[in-house]
Amino acid sequence: MRFPKGGSLILFATALQYILAVDAIPRPPLSWAEASEKASTFVSQLTTVEKVGLVTGAYGSGLLPCVGTIAPIERLGFDGLCLSDGPAGVARSDGVSVFASGITVAATWDRRLMYERGLALGQEFRAKGSHVLLGPSAGPMGRHARGGRNWEGFGPDPYLAGVAMSESVSGIQAAGVQTVSKHYIGNEQETQRVNSTRDDGTIIEAISANIDDRTLHELYLWPFANAVHAGTSSVMCGYNRVNGSYSCANSEILRKVLKEELAFPGYIVSDWDATHSTEDTANAGLDMEMPGNSTVSGTYYFGDSLIQAINAGRVSMVRLDDMARRVMVPYFRLGQDVGFPTPDPSSGALLVTYTYGRGSPLSSLYPEVPARDVRGNHARGIRELGAAGTVLLKNVNGALPLTNETSFAVFGNDAPDPTLGSVYLVYGDDAVGNEMGTLDIGGGSGTVRHTNLVSPLEAIRKKVTSIGGRLQWLFDNKEIADGRFRSIYPVPQVCLLFLKAFATEGIDRADIDFQWNATMAVESTAELCPNTIVVTHSPGVALMPWAENENVTAILAAHYPGEETGNSLADVLWGVVEPSGRLPYTIPRAASHYGPPLVELPEPVTDPNAWQADFVEGQMIDYRHFDANVGLEPLYEFGFGLSYTSFEMGQALHVELVGGPLEPVADHSKGTAPGGLIDLWSTVAVVTVNVTNSGHRKGSAVLQLYISLPEDTTPAGTPVKVLRGFEKVVLKVDETRKVKFKLLRRDLSYWDVVNKQWIIPKGPIRFMAGFSSRDIRASSELTV
Ligand code: NOJ
Repeated sequence: MRFPKGGSLILFATALQYILAVDAIPRPPLSWAEASEKASTFVSQLTTVEKVGLVTGAYGSGLLPCVGTIAPIERLGFDGLCLSDGPAGVARSDGVSVFASGITVAATWDRRLMYERGLALGQEFRAKGSHVLLGPSAGPMGRHARGGRNWEGFGPDPYLAGVAMSESVSGIQAAGVQTVSKHYIGNEQETQRVNSTRDDGTIIEAISANIDDRTLHELYLWPFANAVHAGTSSVMCGYNRVNGSYSCANSEILRKVLKEELAFPGYIVSDWDATHSTEDTANAGLDMEMPGNSTVSGTYYFGDSLIQAINAGRVSMVRLDDMARRVMVPYFRLGQDVGFPTPDPSSGALLVTYTYGRGSPLSSLYPEVPARDVRGNHARGIRELGAAGTVLLKNVNGALPLTNETSFAVFGNDAPDPTLGSVYLVYGDDAVGNEMGTLDIGGGSGTVRHTNLVSPLEAIRKKVTSIGGRLQWLFDNKEIADGRFRSIYPVPQVCLLFLKAFATEGIDRADIDFQWNATMAVESTAELCPNTIVVTHSPGVALMPWAENENVTAILAAHYPGEETGNSLADVLWGVVEPSGRLPYTIPRAASHYGPPLVELPEPVTDPNAWQADFVEGQMIDYRHFDANVGLEPLYEFGFGLSYTSFEMGQALHVELVGGPLEPVADHSKGTAPGGLIDLWSTVAVVTVNVTNSGHRKGSAVLQLYISLPEDTTPAGTPVKVLRGFEKVVLKVDETRKVKFKLLRRDLSYWDVVNKQWIIPKGPIRFMAGFSSRDIRASSELTV
């Protein structure tokens, strides 16, 4: 089917769809059981070919110009499904917001903002007619600081990432849009993430993440369990292999762990071209192949091959019914069968123009039409979240907040608008990124095209002009760094230097330094300017060898904050907003301190099975690794971040068990629900501490609760401590607040690999509350 060529008709249709999109309030979700009944009834009316159609995708075409589509079944009034990236905005679209990236979201430690971002994201996807958002991401988590996609997810701590997954899933789905929690599982490096073919035809298989059962459960699976518990519609299996077999054909992790143990009732979709076989994959648990009937790759394994496998009895009809039903359950559950906006035709023009070029014959299918602008007032929330995810790492000599200063300089290639501008669908799609321009999001499928962008330069210039001040600027890092920059007149009261580190899907970072001569740029600036404030935009861990330079008076780690980046930052600089972000990862003093290196094999690789990543460090990544290596001091630790005020915590920490002494094992009689055993999710203890604002300004304390399980009664490999609670509380000057952390049965358990179950160990558990993983202020021990 084609779009009508008449422009006015399209304009009218576009306007109507927009009105529908904004006004249509999604119905509250049906229960899984109700939705499953509807889906079964639907599937019972389908032919085999139609069922296979539901589980075999296609790259966007016709009325569904999306990165993945499921074809309509018109006779039953099913309009098909449109799947779009994700996770930080509607990718490959116009008239959309660029939201903060996952790592920024994690840095807020703020459940409300996590949920609200999800809701706003969901609203934009719905208004664009995308049924499915390809996100949120909890894989990679960040085993390697160099991981190219770490910024898309919520960092290396499973508890924090789990909360962020849960809030994101709930928020997005509250807008009636399906979430695809990705990439399941162990998708920790981009290097050899997919298989490759040598000139002689030998296929060199993708990296295999070899993960032991306990590490899988307590670390990499943990946030996915939160996502399932929160009702994620779908889970995307990753490109990599896990323990030797491809994620999308691994029955252990798909069927046993995800569908049986976690009782996941939705569908598993493959990452794009991550399917490598027909019956093995279908029988292992994959429910939907993407992009399936792809004009791009040309190879696919469901479609006709699946029909043949069904006819030959290699895949049972029961299994096909299950696949088709699982695909339809979330659709009915979220009420997508009624009043869902049709996909925005402008997305077709964008997809075709940018994928195939303007001259492509396909262009005539998609005349350029104005995009539905679905941004609403989301810029406000993006600005708030960007500020809340900015971490103040250093602040001496009263550098921040800015008060009466009038003479400023803005330095560094990360301050102005990108010279590559906003016209491309994807920018900075190589390992290095573009030289000139601020970074507010990373590259690859997770990037979002800017309809608007407020650069740091723009926001700061506006503020400085409004106070009648003076601004000097120099953006060329070569000039700043190479020694020609020997004087500045007059010496500004404040020099703001912007550094960036680019990261993208498909390639791991070459190192974890800030790029474009960043270290030299700091040194030259700090030599001329005794009040140098460094602002960084990074995908996560990045080295700061200049942090202790005494002329560097403040450091703000702003991550990838999305399109309001400049405004978010100005709010923090001038103290309109208190810096309340905390690090969701550890910044090491040297790259070698951080943990396991990427697997990088020298060419030529001839052994098809050569790419093996043994996760021998178990759970010891990020702060757990630093804790396990006594004497290894981070530069800035997980959970760290300063404020413009100060906080005290009372030394008393009270632990109350809910319902008396705890049985070591969950009560199976309570049954299972999405997320696994219901009893694992019941509150078993409540910890209480007091916190006071002891400074001179209102501010947000981020209280963190860590626990240590007893060494004697847990197997080797138990981390020294793990995060098991956090609360962000706003406090007025002198205000004291009692803060409670609720601990679930899962939070106090370890995964017993012998009996394959969660166990609360015997012996004393230590509960520790503080302001970072290394700033513990109150603790107590209790035998539960
Ligand atoms: C591949 C990426 O790994 C995945 O995250 C994305 O959703 C798909 N491509 C579709 O663009």
